[in-house]
Amino acid sequence: MKDREQPGFATRILGAMHLVPAEVPSEPASIPIFQSAGFSFDSLEAFDAAVEGDATSFVYSRAGNPTVDTLERIIAELEHGEAARAFASGMAAIHAALAACLKAGDHVVAPDRLYGGTYAILTGLFRSFGVECTFAPVGNIESWKSALRPNTRVVWAETITNPTLEVTDLPRLASIAHEAGARLLVDSTLTTPYLACPLDHGADLVVHSATKYLGGHGDLLGGLVVGGELDMVPVRRTLFQTGGNMAPFVAWLLLRGLETLPLRMDRHSQSAETLVAFLSNQPGVRAVHYPTLASGPDLQLRERMLPSGCGGLLSFEVKDDETARKVINRLQRFRRAGSLGDVHSLAMMPALASHRQVDAETRESMGISRGFIRLSVGLEDPEDLMDDLRQALNLD
Ligand SMILES: Cc1ncc(COP(=O)(O)O)c(C=O)c1O
Repeated sequence: MKDREQPGFATRILGAMHLVPAEVPSEPASIPIFQSAGFSFDSLEAFDAAVEGDATSFVYSRAGNPTVDTLERIIAELEHGEAARAFASGMAAIHAALAACLKAGDHVVAPDRLYGGTYAILTGLFRSFGVECTFAPVGNIESWKSALRPNTRVVWAETITNPTLEVTDLPRLASIAHEAGARLLVDSTLTTPYLACPLDHGADLVVHSATKYLGGHGDLLGGLVVGGELDMVPVRRTLFQTGGNMAPFVAWLLLRGLETLPLRMDRHSQSAETLVAFLSNQPGVRAVHYPTLASGPDLQLRERMLPSGCGGLLSFEVKDDETARKVINRLQRFRRAGSLGDVHSLAMMPALASHRQVDAETRESMGISRGFIRLSVGLEDPEDLMDDLRQALNLD
């Protein structure tokens, strides 16, 4: 007969939680992963109190998880914000930031050169929900004023545009937006808080694809929204209602990636500058795009906005589509891949990846010519990357 003094075999396994040390006297070398969907309480009253507003307790990981929360606090601090929320991808973060600020009948002003996924969600999902968007020339901030309407609620910007690498005058955009009663939302994926903090320049919310430089190793998908406590309330609500949360393990990978962010960003920026100088002197290269190539007022803007480097993304243009394909197919060190911000160097035609959802005519108007190549410069020795580009461009 079964000994009823002891719980059953399965019950003992499922009750193992009581064996977890409540407190560990020494500090772990790495931030623990709380791989848990929910959290349990000693009483219903304690559960209820936690749901109702004890900000330090965790109830259900869609509302908050200790590992993800650690990441959110660090990012909020680095971005000079008060709060942050972590998402399953950059697009989930972009969706939540826009959804938190918009309702049917509202209007958005966005740059005419921007990441293709953002263009697609503004002209697709949000338009279908009754939100209109006007695209304004990124280099002519005054013209943004005439794009504003009484119902403009969001002005969208990228700190550096993807893939044309123009620096946005965020302080001027912030004052134009605020005068019109709109919020300035900034996608700062290409710069990370190491190179620029848009909240310091007047932005209300900052958005990141953490998939890129913040994670840095091409092994995760993630997104972040950062802002002041009040501005983050509807972002939190949107995340809780739509559930595009970052998983605890992903947050852990990101926390680990962040530890080397300054080192990586310095190296990305330095190597990109080396390759920009090289490409600028190649006969087959018709144009090179990188913020350090700006002149006049654009140069002053770049120096003000990005005093310590411009990151690892650069673009260049060759004669036509066929030549661009040949060059990319000949590369041996650059991987042919669609992302950016990875430790590995990546090469791609935006027309085939980041701007695939954008029709050919709009792509041209965004400055993405048929021979447009985007490079994400990784952490390899820059001389090897230069040799690789040299042999790939030597098409005769
Ligand atoms: C500037 C920018 N923002 C947002 C995204 C979307 O990020 P994710 O791919 O993590 O959804 C990307 C992706 O390439 C991007 O380049």
